[in-house]
Amino acid sequence: MADKFKRILVTAALPYANGPIHIGHLAGAYLPADLYVKYQRLKKRDILFICGSDEHGVPITIKADQEGVSPQDIVDRYHKMMQESFKTFGIDFDNYSRTSLPIHHETSSDFFTVLNNKKILTEKTEQQLYCEHDNMFLADRYVEGKCPKCGADGARGDQCETCGSYLDQTELIDPKCKICSNSPIIRETKHWYLPLGKYQDQLQTWIRSKPDWKDNVVNYCEGWFREGLEDRAVTRDLKWGVKVPLPDAEGKVLYVWFDAPIGYISSTKEWAIKKGQPELWKDYWQKQDTKLIHFIGKDNIVFHAIVFPAMLMAHGDFVLPENVPANEFLNIEGKKLSTSRNYAIWLHEYLQDFAPDSLRYALASTLPETKDSDFSWKEFQARHNNELADILGNFVNRTFTFAHKYFNGQVPALKNQKPADFEVEKYLTDIPEKIGSLYETYHFREAVQESMNVARMANKYFNDSEPWKTRNSDLVQCGNTIHVSLQICRSLALIFQPVLPDASKKILSLLNQSDNLKNLDWSEAAFFGLKEGQELKQPEILFAKIEDEIIQKQIDKLTQPIQLPVDKNPVESLKPEISIDDFNKIDLRTVTVLEAEVFKGTDKLLKLQVDLGSEKRQVLAGLQQHIKPEDLVGKKVILVANLAPRKMKGEESKGMVLAIEDPNGKLIPVFTPDQVLPGSTVR
Ligand code: 2FM
Ligand code: ZN
Repeated sequence: MADKFKRILVTAALPYANGPIHIGHLAGAYLPADLYVKYQRLKKRDILFICGSDEHGVPITIKADQEGVSPQDIVDRYHKMMQESFKTFGIDFDNYSRTSLPIHHETSSDFFTVLNNKKILTEKTEQQLYCEHDNMFLADRYVEGKCPKCGADGARGDQCETCGSYLDQTELIDPKCKICSNSPIIRETKHWYLPLGKYQDQLQTWIRSKPDWKDNVVNYCEGWFREGLEDRAVTRDLKWGVKVPLPDAEGKVLYVWFDAPIGYISSTKEWAIKKGQPELWKDYWQKQDTKLIHFIGKDNIVFHAIVFPAMLMAHGDFVLPENVPANEFLNIEGKKLSTSRNYAIWLHEYLQDFAPDSLRYALASTLPETKDSDFSWKEFQARHNNELADILGNFVNRTFTFAHKYFNGQVPALKNQKPADFEVEKYLTDIPEKIGSLYETYHFREAVQESMNVARMANKYFNDSEPWKTRNSDLVQCGNTIHVSLQICRSLALIFQPVLPDASKKILSLLNQSDNLKNLDWSEAAFFGLKEGQELKQPEILFAKIEDEIIQKQIDKLTQPIQLPVDKNPVESLKPEISIDDFNKIDLRTVTVLEAEVFKGTDKLLKLQVDLGSEKRQVLAGLQQHIKPEDLVGKKVILVANLAPRKMKGEESKGMVLAIEDPNGKLIPVFTPDQVLPGSTVR
């Protein structure tokens, strides 16, 4: 499909580096983006696929607080993990960056400066919630309360997940600090705002000039326009993030939704630098003949179709997105996916048990393109067994088996073609165009199902031609059938490449066509490209059937706790050297746990009464998620006995219990042998 664009820049939403990738992420943004990119690469378009980890924002700092580690520790762990699982799944980014890199801090900070120097941003002093206990403003998810719109509990400072409303934190009813559960006070603070309202006309005209945008996206934006766009703060009072580049902005960072989309630009810059052509990013971001496409999930629509375009308009140096093909949500077994309840299918776990192609195909066949859709393990099994194995795999297998049994493992001649053979040739002529236009217009489900229809046609042709009969009655005709079937195998390898990269590669290798893999072009699926006499490899099973027990295990696993891959456990780097004197300052003692109970009103702390030999003490230990209180009573553990006492939620804690962290982040207290007396020194 010819269009006015010389190059395509595809972005997929930068995932938050606070947890692993799950199939909801894949169905929302990454798989559709990858299908599109792989298709366009076969079309030999100039296309760049950009992504990276979103490493700022409150979910990351909250997770770090919960685990007692630094935000950098959290993002290091998940960045690596996400990057690896994307790679294994065959998602083919040209660059996968991360927003904690200096190049991103610089790019987003410069972006802010441009808007500020152009006097686009407005400064406002506002009332915000402040926790006197933790001495901090409670940005976004650091505060929870009752939603002023729907009354649901657990609404966050920025949004209520129950009714979906975007909130101003001061509207929350009975707000509570997420860290200490105390009620915050209201205090004044200064922030910088993007006056979205000023861009409403321009945004409306722009979006209304896009006839090919998906209805779900346009309708969502129209809803925002009807409400009227309001100023949005682009800074926050937080420590973790891109520092606001102004002298009077101590302790303030850019709002994560301001810096994250700029991450697409910094990732492109990083790609250009790695390529040794540092200026090349400009072609993709600044030339008007670039087609910029943002693949996202529906919860990101407002930021990609309204806020980021307004930022780009305000800045003035960049192209605007040509399309924002957002997907709706994917449910699992009829229920809403939930990471907090661990009701999810995690990519790294899937990849330990199955091949990438099977999930790529099953998900692509049920993408939530126009409305929420459902993933079920039974359907996954059916797609794999009844379609990949029985239709595609079987066709390739029977074709190669015949070629080896009766034609010396070579492509037989095509002579005196019968009408059915001509029909196949004719049928294939339209296929690349037909399936291609589905890819061009983001109808991936249909594109994939139409691809499987080619394999269905192939099996029908094979059956109708009855080569098992003609091999005795008319060997030339049998040769024609196998010749034509091998040609279809080649076309199938091409058209299935976007969704089944591994199977496609395998088929091409069986056909001894891997050498010119790079030169293969989408349009070549339209005609017969194999030569008579071409040697063929021995067939291999492309898709082995998946048994019921294997699927049942996955269904059972859905509600079990998350497992990080053990061999991928990132070993923390060592702390700086200390002297023996430094060490001797720490007084480690064995103590007997006399009593242990959940510290009510907290979800992390256990309240322990311990015997130190010379005295009894209360210790609050962050072990609630890790061990049952009754499993601690009567045991001896090691206490940092001279740690300064701390108050938490009004109760005193004197000392800290030592524990070992396992690869899944679980803490195991260090128990000492029974015969040890309480109060003994540990050296
Ligand atoms: O929803 C999310 O996971 C966000 N981290 C997406 C950011 S997309 C872009 F702006 F970087
Ligand atoms: Zn607090």
